[in-house]
Amino acid sequence: MKKILVVFGTRPEAIKMAPLVKEFQKNSVDFDTKVCVTAQHREMLDQVLEFYEIEPDFDLDLMKPNQNLYSLTSDIIVGMKTILEDFQPDYVFVHGDTTTTMAAGIAGFYSGAQVCHIEAGLRTYNKRAPFPEELNRQITGRVADYHFSPTITSKQNLLQENTSEDRILVTGNTVIDALMFSVEKVKQLEGNQEIEFLKSIITPNRDLILVTGHRRENHGQGFLNICTALKEIAETTGVQIIYPVHLNPNVQKPVYDILGGIDNIKLIDPLSYPAFIWLMNQSKLIITDSGGVQEEAPSLGKPVLVMRDTTERPEAVEAGTVLLVGTNANLIVKEATSLLSDHHRYEKMSALHNPYGDGKASERVVEFILNNN
Ligand code: UD1
Ligand code: UDP
Repeated sequence: MKKILVVFGTRPEAIKMAPLVKEFQKNSVDFDTKVCVTAQHREMLDQVLEFYEIEPDFDLDLMKPNQNLYSLTSDIIVGMKTILEDFQPDYVFVHGDTTTTMAAGIAGFYSGAQVCHIEAGLRTYNKRAPFPEELNRQITGRVADYHFSPTITSKQNLLQENTSEDRILVTGNTVIDALMFSVEKVKQLEGNQEIEFLKSIITPNRDLILVTGHRRENHGQGFLNICTALKEIAETTGVQIIYPVHLNPNVQKPVYDILGGIDNIKLIDPLSYPAFIWLMNQSKLIITDSGGVQEEAPSLGKPVLVMRDTTERPEAVEAGTVLLVGTNANLIVKEATSLLSDHHRYEKMSALHNPYGDGKASERVVEFILNNN
């Protein structure tokens, strides 16, 4: 039996690792699968665990209010020690580019386990953007024994860094596995409390913009610009904006200070994953700096303005469904207004694309590990 430890800590990792956990758990003959959460996030992580009905075997419960990167990193590495020594996994799985990913990857390496990186090979090659994620995934790429890349482009990045080709498998992104699983669940949501609440704040027959944002490099002036732009869009176009605000205090403060009390901007708590998908489907346009949302939106045919100067997810930009606007307030207003009024341009941008996978990424990973000696 192969011993598998799947480690994650934040909302997006949980959303994208849950399908893999489920896939490993389906085969209890060949795999002894355990889940470790660092709880780098708490409420936003628990929302996902509840939705997928995953009960972690180990919970480091690390989140502190307004935590810093130094103590978070060391707490994860130290916290993982006992778990790794007791369980002695053959494989440690980490996902993406958070501090949990990087620190759990290093801890897995120290333990002697084979480290497997899901969503491997994404790069901007600018270590300040996204910060600290770009360096997190580069470091994880160095400690990983196996790299599960979502796309050919991400595999090529790894090859360019002299990673052995037989250590890389292109799988598609597990976010599409998650999206497909959830779209089914979303159908059963009618009447659910969260959906009823959303219906109560949505004005029918009026365009809806969905907003999310949290990137560390946008904290401070970036968020002030973003909020100024959203305020102007709301005031000049009359469109309705719904913004589930990330719980990071560096996001909450400027957003509630500047956008609170504006009639057609609704600031709400983070939504459960299926409710968020439901809301993406109701929206005309999405404005975000999120990585995951950039990957989901093309599958749902929703144009996205990305509030970043650079992206490690070029596939949707190339397909034309995603447009980079940075945190330049004028540009955000200009592009949003243009998409709301220019029907032809909107139709072109909302064409359905599926550059990130076919929903079978987790199956491919499990199959690979099953046959790996
Ligand atoms: C983290 C990741 C980022 C990822 C993002 C997804 C790092 C350094 N950052 O950023 O890569 O894209 O998650 O959302 O790994 N908080 C809560 N409750 C929660 C979650 C957060 O109160 O459920 C607050 C806490 O005060 C916490 C703070 O947000 O200290 C920051 O959390 P942290 O994980 O350090 O940074 P994020 O901005 O969430
Ligand atoms: N999401 C969610 N509820 C929300 C906002 C986003 O479930 O209120 C989901 C979204 O569908 C995507 C993921 O969270 O799958 C993105 O997470 P986040 O933006 O926190 O992180 P990133 O993807 O930028 O790392």
